[in-house]
Amino acid sequence: MTKPRAFISRRIPRPALEIIASACDYTMWDDLMPAPRDHFLRAAAEADGVLVMPTERIDAEFLAAAPRVRAVANMGVGYDNIDVPALTARGVLVTNTPDVLTEATADLAWALLMAAARRVVEGHKAIEAGAWGAWHPFYMLGQDVFGATIGIVGAGRIGAAIARRARAFNMRILYHNRGRAPQLEAALLAEYRAFDDLLRESDYVVAATPLTAETRGLFDARAFALMKDTAVFVNISRGAVVKEEDLVEALKRGRPWAAASDVFAAEPTPRDNPLLSLPNFVGTPHIGSATLRTRTDMATLAARNLVNALTGQAPLTPVNPEVWPIKLANGSR
Ligand code: DGY
Repeated sequence: MTKPRAFISRRIPRPALEIIASACDYTMWDDLMPAPRDHFLRAAAEADGVLVMPTERIDAEFLAAAPRVRAVANMGVGYDNIDVPALTARGVLVTNTPDVLTEATADLAWALLMAAARRVVEGHKAIEAGAWGAWHPFYMLGQDVFGATIGIVGAGRIGAAIARRARAFNMRILYHNRGRAPQLEAALLAEYRAFDDLLRESDYVVAATPLTAETRGLFDARAFALMKDTAVFVNISRGAVVKEEDLVEALKRGRPWAAASDVFAAEPTPRDNPLLSLPNFVGTPHIGSATLRTRTDMATLAARNLVNALTGQAPLTPVNPEVWPIKLANGSR
C-alpha cells in the first residue's frame, strides 16, 4: 500500500521526525532557516499533508499551489499564520499544539514581568558600561511584584498558568476575556473586569490573548493612557495586538512605567526598532516556548496530528474538527 506523502517545512527534533518516517513518505527542508517561499510551495504541492512552523503563511496562494494537501499541522498553538476559514472551505484539516507549551510560555511571561519590574536588563547594561555608581537609597528603584495587582488579558491556558504564578506571589488577580472563566475565579480568586477597568486597576498588565480581528491593535495609545504611571505591560501573545508606535510614545511619557515583550509587529524586529533604545523596555526574540523539552513536545504533537490525519485516525488537537474525516487525493482516508 502506498504511504501518504508529507512535507516538513523545517528541521524538527528527531523523535517527531521518527513518528512521520514510520508512517509517511516524507521530504523535509533540513535547515533551521525557512525555505524560500517558492521551494516551500513546490514541496507542499507534492504532499498530502504538511508540518509547518508559525512563520509559514498558509493562505490562498498556498491552497492554489498545493491542491493535494489535506492536512496542515502547525507546530505552534497560535495559528494566525493560517487562513483557517479558507482551508476549512476546501476540506483541509488544521491542527495546532496546545497545552504542551503552556508552562514554558507562562515562565517566560514571568521572567519578562520580573525583568521589567526590577530593571534586570538595565542593571546588567549599567554594569557592562561601567556605570555602576555608589549604592544609594534611590539607585535603580523598581516596582514591587509581591502583593501587587495583575491584570491578565486572555484567560486561556497560558493566561491561567500566568495567574497560578501570580497567586504564589500573593497578587490580586484580575482578568479580561471574551467569556467568564469560572474555574479561574474559583481556584485563584481571580476577578473579571471590563477591559478599561482592568487597565486602570492593574500594576501589571499581561497580554495573553490570541491574535484575532478583535485583538489586533488592542493595546494602543488609548489603552496605554488608561494604565497607571507605575504599571508594567508585558506581551507574550502576538506583536500585532500592540500598536508598537503607540507603545514607544507611551513609554517615553512614562505611562506605562515599563514594558516587556517576547513578540513584535515584524519578526525578526529590526535593530533600529525605537523600542530597543528605551531603557524601560525589555525584549526577547519570540522564545516563549523555547525550551528543549517543550519544542520536542510541540514537534511530537504536530507529527502525531499529521500522521493521524493522513492514516485515518482522528487528529489529537484539531483546529477545525468539522472537516474530519478528510479524503486524501488517492481516495484513502
Ligand atoms: C505559538 O505556539 O503560537 C508560539 O508563539 C510559538 O512559539
